[in-house]
Amino acid sequence: MQKIKEYVATHQQRFLDELFELLRYPSVSADPKYKDDVSRTAAFVAQKLRDAGADKVEVCPTAGHPIVYGEKIIDPDRPTVLVYGHYDVQPPDPLELWETPPFEPTVRDGKIFARGACDDKGQFYMHIKALELMEATGTLACNIKFMIEGEEEVGSDHLGEFVKANTERLAADIVLISDTAMISLDTPSLETGLRGLSYLEVEVTGPNRDLHSGVYGGAVANPATVLAKLIASLHDADNRITIPGFYDDVVALTDAERKALNEAPFDEAEYKKDLGIDALWGEKGYTTIERTGIRPTLEVNGIWGGYIGEGAKTVLPSKAHAKISMRLVPTQDSHAITELFVKHFERIAPDYVKVKVTPHHGGEPAVTPTDSKAYRAAEKAIETAFGKKPIPTRGGGSIPIVSLFEKVLGLKTVLMGFGLDSDNLHSPNEKYDIANYLKGIETIPLFHKYFAALD
Ligand code: BES
Ligand code: MN
Ligand code: MN
Repeated sequence: MQKIKEYVATHQQRFLDELFELLRYPSVSADPKYKDDVSRTAAFVAQKLRDAGADKVEVCPTAGHPIVYGEKIIDPDRPTVLVYGHYDVQPPDPLELWETPPFEPTVRDGKIFARGACDDKGQFYMHIKALELMEATGTLACNIKFMIEGEEEVGSDHLGEFVKANTERLAADIVLISDTAMISLDTPSLETGLRGLSYLEVEVTGPNRDLHSGVYGGAVANPATVLAKLIASLHDADNRITIPGFYDDVVALTDAERKALNEAPFDEAEYKKDLGIDALWGEKGYTTIERTGIRPTLEVNGIWGGYIGEGAKTVLPSKAHAKISMRLVPTQDSHAITELFVKHFERIAPDYVKVKVTPHHGGEPAVTPTDSKAYRAAEKAIETAFGKKPIPTRGGGSIPIVSLFEKVLGLKTVLMGFGLDSDNLHSPNEKYDIANYLKGIETIPLFHKYFAALD
């Protein structure tokens, strides 16, 4: 532990400078105009892996953005850890809400502000620096393989194919991912589950063209009003989702499991204050921790139609649209849920409009065991580095590829994330605390050490 702390202390400025360099690449996977930047980012990550001592480093092209692979095999008899992360980031918009530009990392109050600072550049880069540290201090305990992709934020469309085509190259004993959050540095935690996702777009069409709202309004249904009503009807008075069959495959937790989950500290007043809201909302009968962890939800991510420019235009729009996502929990299946949504939405559409539902990407939920050697290694690593045993929690976000690792590679995952829920992921002013970054670099080598030693 002393060796690790010393190495981090000696090299911390360089560790930060390198991360800043990585954060300056605008690797926005969703927007084709950044395609070359995304490729350049992959090349940078590959170079940093080589510099840290990885072998067989390769930028693997896909039909989408490339995947970076690298490995350090010290002894085939040792356990192998497959590190997964993503170097792509969400679009930075709305730009005007950033206090400093998204691709010019800036430190304020001990926090690094930049798109991708926490999700996931700051987090996967800790693993590259941990490799450097273990290599330099002669403390490598496990074989390590890295698979850092560039399409996580757009649904990992080509990763499945890559994994299926490379099962031997990716053979390992455990997948280790830092792309989730912990409660705080004072209250470390380990996420033990991720939600699945079904994402679709709906289009409601009324008249065959935009109309004068005075000439036709009142006689012809307004698609925007109809869409608003349809969306509102998707939750009932208890804020439960009204799609028939939606909850059929939801696994209910036992009272004991629910009790344990709710033992995690949660300050409701602080939560509301941070978000600037006076009251919380959610499914009746469940706590906030449960609503974001073990219960499925339905959200409108965007809604538009008609005139949204400057000033006023009197128009009855021909079309209205919304992007809708549903977060899923074990053992809901994203394809089945998408189908239920499509059927329901088509059924409830009144005859004065037409509706079209287009599914986007999805992903399955995952739970990670808490009684495995890998979980115990992560628990012990955090306990050693933080001085406190981590609390198991359920995360609200999704990393769809985790269920595929289990199906295709037969591997379980450990979600050893060092972010915070308040790190503004996908929002303006995304950040990552320097303390979390450095603590992560300290904790990862301990994971390798304990994973190799425990039985
Ligand atoms: N790192 C997040 C997922 C996450 C965030 C898990 C916080 C747990 C806590 C990941 O990059 C992400 O944003 N995933 C997307 C899904 C993807 C298919 C776009 C998500 O959760 O919306
Ligand atoms: Mn992420
Ligand atoms: Mn993300």
